[in-house]
Amino acid sequence: MQVQVQLPSSFEVRKTHMASIKQMENKKACVIGGTGFVASLLIKHLLEKGYAVNTTVRDPDNVQKISHLVALQSLGELNIFGAELTAEEYFDAPIAGCKLVFQLATPVNFASKDPETDMIKPAIKGVLNVLKACARAKEVERVILTSSAAAVTINQLNGTGLVMDESNWTDIEYLNTAKPPTWGYPVSKVLAEKAAWEFAKENHINLITVIPSLIAGYSLTPDIPSSVNLAMALITGSENCHIH
Ligand SMILES: NC(=O)c1ccc[n+]([C@@H]2O[C@H](COP(=O)([O-])OP(=O)(O)OC[C@H]3O[C@@H](n4cnc5c(N)ncnc54)[C@H](OP(=O)(O)O)[C@@H]3O)[C@@H](O)[C@H]2O)c1
Repeated sequence: MQVQVQLPSSFEVRKTHMASIKQMENKKACVIGGTGFVASLLIKHLLEKGYAVNTTVRDPDNVQKISHLVALQSLGELNIFGAELTAEEYFDAPIAGCKLVFQLATPVNFASKDPETDMIKPAIKGVLNVLKACARAKEVERVILTSSAAAVTINQLNGTGLVMDESNWTDIEYLNTAKPPTWGYPVSKVLAEKAAWEFAKENHINLITVIPSLIAGYSLTPDIPSSVNLAMALITGSENCHIH
């Protein structure tokens, strides 16, 4: 059976390498960052497709924050592990026995005064920590990383009819110099994705990166996701939203 994970329509696949997903005898997947907007919907789809799922959250004791995950446990086997992106040792246990690993967790702190420390370094370290655990685990057949259109489209090009595809990268030299508002997030996404490709190539990991633009729609999370808030700003007129 082929894996059919229904992702929001704004998802584009950047690149794939190695073979397409093989038939999965062991239907177990790991989702890093389960409390998130997209990750929790993904977990729901995986459980509905009959997968057992291991997921990681930053604080498994935060009952309110994981309430939507606890509710999903009625759909099938969903194991919740604690894991902080910057600490390598947390990822071996949730990834053990999984053939698919989805890495969605990323630090988002648009108001940060120090994006290097708050977003860029932990995003890169987090992706590498997850991939290192995948390399150790041996059973992992594919890793799916959510990158972002923010890793592709931000540059100083002018004009109409410009087309961006998976060969384009956001201009981080411009972002690091001009530091426009929320610059740290796109820089974190570019550097984390590039680090992932390099590590995957060196360690023969079957990696896919997906490039969502703005994702909106129904959510399982107790709080309104920031991207839904941003999309709703077109209707509500709220100016308290950050565009990235
Ligand atoms: N939503 C969009 O429109 C959009 C567009 C393009 C790309 N993406 C990408 O898609 C992925 C999911 O997006 P989303 O909107 O679902 O994100 P989200 O709701 O903000 O979820 C982010 C997740 O990352 C976790 N996280 C942050 N810092 C962490 C750390 N240091 N250690 C462990 N976990 C950490 C968060 O945990 P806590 O709950 O504990 O904070 C949360 O579970 C991200 O990689 C994002 O960049 C999203």
